[in-house]
Amino acid sequence: MFKRIPGTKDILSDEIGRWQSIEDKAGAIFALYNYCEVRPPVIEDVGLFQRSLGESAEIVQKQMFVIKNADSTYALRPEGTASIVRAYLENNLDKNQGLVKFYYSGPMFRLERPQRGRLRQFHHLGCEVIGSSSPKVDVEIISLADTLLKAFAIEDYHIQVNSLGCPKDKKALSQFLNKALEAKLPKLCPDCQERFKRNVLRILDCKNEACKEVVAKLDLNNSHLCRDCQGHAQRVLAGLDFLKIKYLVNPYLVRGLDYYTRTVFEIKHDALGAQDAIGAGGRYDNLVKELGGPDCGAIGFAFGMERLLLAATKDITIKNQDLTYLITLGEAAENEGLKILNDLRRAGIRCDTDYEGKSLKGAMRQANDAKARYVLILGDDELKKRVITLKDMQASQQQEVPLDNLITELKKRVSN
Ligand code: HAM
Repeated sequence: MFKRIPGTKDILSDEIGRWQSIEDKAGAIFALYNYCEVRPPVIEDVGLFQRSLGESAEIVQKQMFVIKNADSTYALRPEGTASIVRAYLENNLDKNQGLVKFYYSGPMFRLERPQRGRLRQFHHLGCEVIGSSSPKVDVEIISLADTLLKAFAIEDYHIQVNSLGCPKDKKALSQFLNKALEAKLPKLCPDCQERFKRNVLRILDCKNEACKEVVAKLDLNNSHLCRDCQGHAQRVLAGLDFLKIKYLVNPYLVRGLDYYTRTVFEIKHDALGAQDAIGAGGRYDNLVKELGGPDCGAIGFAFGMERLLLAATKDITIKNQDLTYLITLGEAAENEGLKILNDLRRAGIRCDTDYEGKSLKGAMRQANDAKARYVLILGDDELKKRVITLKDMQASQQQEVPLDNLITELKKRVSN
């Protein structure tokens, strides 16, 4: 028998209600903020990610699912931002629309070592605003993330914010780190020794205890920021204060992707252990230009759906309407049953039946297994009298209802 690939999941009926609940709530909230859903493909030219995330990014170096054929090399998307910017440019939205506010959800692929909250196929729920450098958008994006988490009834999360500054500032920060860490190199893990050569900022992100100890002594602050970037960062924090959104400024927060500039943020959850980031994002003011478009600001974030679901401990499942289950006994009733089911479904009543012509006992067992609230029983006698037996499984009561009144009677009873 074939098995799932490690780090992938089957999302089955016991779980799907929670997924749909988050997706539905998110769709409604994104609409309130005037974000429009987009669905780019899951495979892209591998170069799009190499260029956008940076050749030295861990995702590009080690984690991409790459598909090669004779003349092309594709990658299963490891994230959504690069695809969205590609779609923005390829569809000329920079020329026709200027500012766009998009949201998206769907599978992402990273070849990581699977563990709780870390999969090889996982799902993002994310959004991107392309076409503005205003700090007001940073505030909107972070407050939108906060609103979504509240709508999912998730508590105990912490928003951490930092500013990396413009490319010049990032360079200044890298130079500072190079100087400060040079003498400490032997204390760093082999990966960080490599990071020191390729992209020293990534050392701040290392989970190795020895590296964390060295990094903690660096005494970072935002002194590497130029005046414009300082101003931008201050306006973002003032906006968050004004909206009473709780956050912590973490000068050690860098992100594992090259495209970030200025504001970056990460949202962590207390109960998730090692993989505690439920979402993250930030500005990427140079990416649109880098991919061949105009010089325009952009910002976004993505939640990991699987981690949201681990953090959402309150019951958020959208309840289905009570199920009505039809049992027919005999050929004539079976034929009439087809019409009854059809009429009930068209009238908006959720119903099902036994397709196998089981005995009354067997069909009742099936109705129970399907968690039916109401059971309808139609035999030859009922059919002759043009009535049907309506059984309330919860109240253990039953009555005969004229077939012509069935829809009205059920509509009075079923709860949505
Ligand atoms: P990211 O931090 O790589 O950012 O991913 C965002 C979120 O996806 C993480 O905070 C985490 O919840 C979830 N995630 C990442 N990897 C895995 C995994 N292997 N298994 C389960 N969940 C995972 C981005 O991808 C950026 N594109 C976010 C962004 C949007 N920045 C600007 N716009």
